[in-house]
Amino acid sequence: MSTYIITGAARGLGLEFVTQLSAEKANTVFALVRSKSSAAALAELSRRNVIILEADITDADSLKVVLEFKKLPRAVAEATGGKVDYLINNAAIHDHSKVTLDAYPTPAAIEADLLENFRVNTLGTIHATNAFLPLLRAGSVKKVVTLTTGAADIDLTAALSNPGQAGYSISKAALNMAVAKFALALKGEGFVFLAISPGLVATATAPRTPEQAKEYAIFKEKLAKLAPDFKGPITPQVSVQMMLEVIYRWSVEDTGAFVSHHGSKEWL
Ligand SMILES: NC(=O)c1ccc[n+]([C@@H]2O[C@H](COP(=O)([O-])OP(=O)(O)OC[C@H]3O[C@@H](n4cnc5c(N)ncnc54)[C@H](OP(=O)(O)O)[C@@H]3O)[C@@H](O)[C@H]2O)c1
Repeated sequence: MSTYIITGAARGLGLEFVTQLSAEKANTVFALVRSKSSAAALAELSRRNVIILEADITDADSLKVVLEFKKLPRAVAEATGGKVDYLINNAAIHDHSKVTLDAYPTPAAIEADLLENFRVNTLGTIHATNAFLPLLRAGSVKKVVTLTTGAADIDLTAALSNPGQAGYSISKAALNMAVAKFALALKGEGFVFLAISPGLVATATAPRTPEQAKEYAIFKEKLAKLAPDFKGPITPQVSVQMMLEVIYRWSVEDTGAFVSHHGSKEWL
């Protein structure tokens, strides 16, 4: 029996984490969404051990962020007796922009893109981690899992010859370092931090535009050259099953690592 907090739980991998973890009735799962009104699939789960809370992991108004994160853990604390075992930092934005760093129309456009990715993916995750540390400290498991991406791995970026997705990749590379820093700061307390890539997962709900479909075909060709056995994106179900296996076996000795759903540097 464990207690989990999952951010970005309205859809995609976050929703799948909630679905799999709450299937065990003894678990308690706090599903954090930006807005309950756009979390219909999560509401449909309708499980007694799933508690849906509204939270944006970032807020332009820094004071609001502080207030929100002070309020939320109190709500969580009431329902858990003040203890949480696992935090799964899943929420993120990820566009598939092909614009390379040398080709943004203006310096301001570079700043806008990179700062927005950094604000949500890096800072938002840091805020969420800090907000729930007191509850995690009181628990006995103390695991903080952060969803990252192989697109933040320099060797894979070179192998795929992928100069695009700059804002996303840079924000996630920074996030990996944030995880390593948290890990070092809290290793002495028995915390286990892990940055994990879910693989290439079919989570997109919106149909691809013709332009996106073309880019995706080129991407698949590159993947096929790199990994001839690659069969295409895996399902959220398979990805979450594989990540949970890694998460459960990860220990404090290897805290702060950046690995894939295989528990290694095998990104696909
Ligand atoms: N899918 C893949 O192939 C893949 C590959 C590598 C890494 N990842 C990583 O895996 C994680 C999940 O990916 P996914 O494909 O499931 O993504 P997704 O379908 O786009 O879902 C992302 C979730 O994050 C939430 N979110 C975004 N900004 C937020 C904010 N400011 N505050 C709170 N929640 C916010 C979204 O909320 P709304 O529903 O309100 O928009 C959504 O529920 C991400 O960290 C992603 O970078 C995915």
